Amino acid sequence: MNRRLAAPVGITGTGQCFPPRVVTNDDLSKIMETNDEWIRTRTGIRERRWVEPGTGASQLGAPALQMALDNRGIKASELDLILVTTVTPDTLFPATACRIQDMVGATNAFGFDLNAACSGFLYALTTAASLVAAGGVKRVGVVGVDIMSTIINLEDRATSVLFGDGAGAVIVERVEEGLGILDFHHRVDGSGGCFLYMPAGGSLKPATAETVAAKEHYIHQAGSEVFKNAVREMADNSRMLMDRNGFTGEDLKLFVPHQANIRIMDAAAKRLELDPSRMMVNIDRFANTTTATIPTALHQAFGEKRMAKGDLVALAAFGAGFTWGATLLRWAY
Ligand code: UT7
Repeated sequence: MNRRLAAPVGITGTGQCFPPRVVTNDDLSKIMETNDEWIRTRTGIRERRWVEPGTGASQLGAPALQMALDNRGIKASELDLILVTTVTPDTLFPATACRIQDMVGATNAFGFDLNAACSGFLYALTTAASLVAAGGVKRVGVVGVDIMSTIINLEDRATSVLFGDGAGAVIVERVEEGLGILDFHHRVDGSGGCFLYMPAGGSLKPATAETVAAKEHYIHQAGSEVFKNAVREMADNSRMLMDRNGFTGEDLKLFVPHQANIRIMDAAAKRLELDPSRMMVNIDRFANTTTATIPTALHQAFGEKRMAKGDLVALAAFGAGFTWGATLLRWAY
């Protein structure tokens, strides 16, 4: 069944913010037992950006949103809603959306955070677009930001080399008929939660000296379990979404997958029978920035003129939860 919105809604501006500090694979090989060849061939990552200690999600999220506002040519006071997606909020509460609202001066907006890990941006885009289509709000600033360097355990080489820090933002509002979001498919399967999670720090296991000593405030990942599921769901869902809308890989101008591992991305592109030149790849420079991978990839793709008004673009993600999803849209400007 197609998931059509009640009105045409799409993205009308993009922005991004990365911290300046570049951490290469060779830099990592100086602090843990790893090497550039392993990381590059197993993941496609060459380098990532990490913040300086003391930098919170809002400090990347607010400049990214401001850039999206500037690119759209509107003021922060014209936003009705700020929707932030993150697994690394500034604080558990209040929401990071509140901090970003204050930093950009969005004086007429309400705001909240949404947590769906690596699928967060797709869920937030659908949520924002549905609210706009229903008429409850006119303009939404959607921010995907993660400061993964604050939750990786440098003693876990299989996981810590994968992640980077970054923020991407988009403006969501009504667009011309025939443009914007055409269809989406999102799912969760909570039985996969044990394969990628942070064990402590929530209500189930509050922080104690013991949880800190046991390193339970870091990401715990069963890499191969996540890999298997990610390959299947990203590939199957992207293909299913194309099929049910009568499109083939030929029709697609750009495929923008979540950037977790180049091997997962290649498998999804293959399933779409897509020419590799039509897949957006930035994992080599920025690694896996969790919810920020898709909005930053969109920002860069638009800047590189890889899509234009009316072009068909597919987005796909998979992450902790398990959560996954795919979205099909026609670029709106
Ligand atoms: O965005 C959230 C979703 N997350 C993902 O999509 C991540 C999905 N998982 C993956 O991308 C892959 O499973 C990894 C990249 C994490 C691991 O790749 P793999 O091909 O599954 O490797 P592996 O875990 O099976 O490890 C293979 C070998 C092991 O050595 P032995 O036991 O064969 O001697 C590891 O100890 O590679 C070793 N290894 C490393 N060697 C050098 C693991 N990490 C490293 C490392 N450097 N950083």
